[in-house]
Amino acid sequence: MAPKITVIGTGYLGATHAAAMAELGFEVLGLDVVPEKVAMLSEGRVPMFEPGLEELLHKHVAGLEGSSGRLRFTTSYEEAGEFGDVHFVCVNTPQKHGEYACDMSYVDTAFASLAPHLHRPALVVGKSTVPVGSAERLAARLTELAPAGEGAELAWNPEFLREGFAVKDTLHPDRIVVGVASEQAEKQLREIYATPIAEGSPFVVTDYPTAELVKASANSFLATKISYINAMAEICEAAGGDVVKLAEALGHDDRIGKKFLRAGIGFGGGCLPKDLRAFMARAGELGVDQALTFLREIDSINMRRRGHMVELAREAVGGGFLGKRVSVLGATFKPDSDDVRDSPALNVAGQIHLQGGQVTVFDPKGMDNARRVFPTLRYEDSALEAVRGAHVVLHLTEWGEFRELDPAELGEVVAERRILDGRNTLDADRWREAGWTFRAMGRPRA
Ligand code: UDX
Repeated sequence: MAPKITVIGTGYLGATHAAAMAELGFEVLGLDVVPEKVAMLSEGRVPMFEPGLEELLHKHVAGLEGSSGRLRFTTSYEEAGEFGDVHFVCVNTPQKHGEYACDMSYVDTAFASLAPHLHRPALVVGKSTVPVGSAERLAARLTELAPAGEGAELAWNPEFLREGFAVKDTLHPDRIVVGVASEQAEKQLREIYATPIAEGSPFVVTDYPTAELVKASANSFLATKISYINAMAEICEAAGGDVVKLAEALGHDDRIGKKFLRAGIGFGGGCLPKDLRAFMARAGELGVDQALTFLREIDSINMRRRGHMVELAREAVGGGFLGKRVSVLGATFKPDSDDVRDSPALNVAGQIHLQGGQVTVFDPKGMDNARRVFPTLRYEDSALEAVRGAHVVLHLTEWGEFRELDPAELGEVVAERRILDGRNTLDADRWREAGWTFRAMGRPRA
């Protein structure tokens, strides 16, 4: 009989994983400790913007018209323990306040809350991004706390989904990595993933520490690629080169590849920045901090991009922000998401505001979250309203709809036709033809 599945934590990762497992035919119970989230999800509503997820929930949440009924949500660990044969732990591990290390308290609490309800053999599968060494510690804790004792086994199965593509990445992953301590656990996970999900996806079986490391090193590598091209953007600006052409030419080398070579104001979000820092912190604890010293530089190149955009904006408005109106297009850390965690766009907007600029922001999906994080900025409901009266417009998140903007129409309402492209995705010629002074990071001025 197919195992019953619980998913603990219903953020981007958990909600998507739960819906995807239901899509694959499993009976699924999603658990979250926040009753409001459980109530929303039980009505088929998603607490964040993630393309395709709401549709998937509607297909499967029990009680909704025409649904398969395979997916339910609860706040009860007791119910989860009784229901599940396999429990996926998907809670988040944010950066600790004022420290590089990540906060393991949600993971620890999830294990401590679930384990006492495991009365029969069960497989607990960690998916959260954790410091290497956590799985071994958690496996011991599980055996100690679960009434089933050694019958409660741990596996580690890192998740590589991108926000904005969570459903696609979960249903069609690049690879599946499982860190296991027994053949039985491997067999069970192979069976779960022996569905369309794993068709064509390489299945890599490792020990616990390697599985944990795959995630940390993948994210560090991606961050390194972005900072590398951003360092080249700095050089291009000084030497008069064009980083977009440079990246295109580099990308034709298969060994380098085209992806993650888009220069701009750098990376943000809930994953790359904090995973990079947590990895460095863990290397320090392991006594091998030198191995990752270079990541400090990756982080500082990235943070420098934000400061550089502020300086370009200052220069554009004549050397000081006082009395100047600065319009910011984009607040989320990337398009097709409403997530503003560690968003370079919002950070730049905030810095300019704190330096006396009158900042007005528009974002297609991130306004509510941005308002919560930065209530003192001004927000408008459209790009056109946001740029009204602007002395400079900053393009900071590359939403598709910003590429479609009509430079002539916007040109009618701004105070000065000046735009800075912080994401290198706007068509410079179109803006220049409409009379705008257009500048992009790492590219020649005109
Ligand atoms: C990332 C990883 O891609 C994913 O595998 C992991 O599971 C979680 O972290 P995500 O945070 O959703 O996913 O975003 P991603 O698409 O990787 O972008 C991260 C940041 O890098 C964004 O701020 C994006 O704007 C920036 N970026 C990306 C660049 O600045 N240049 C690029 O070329 C690519």
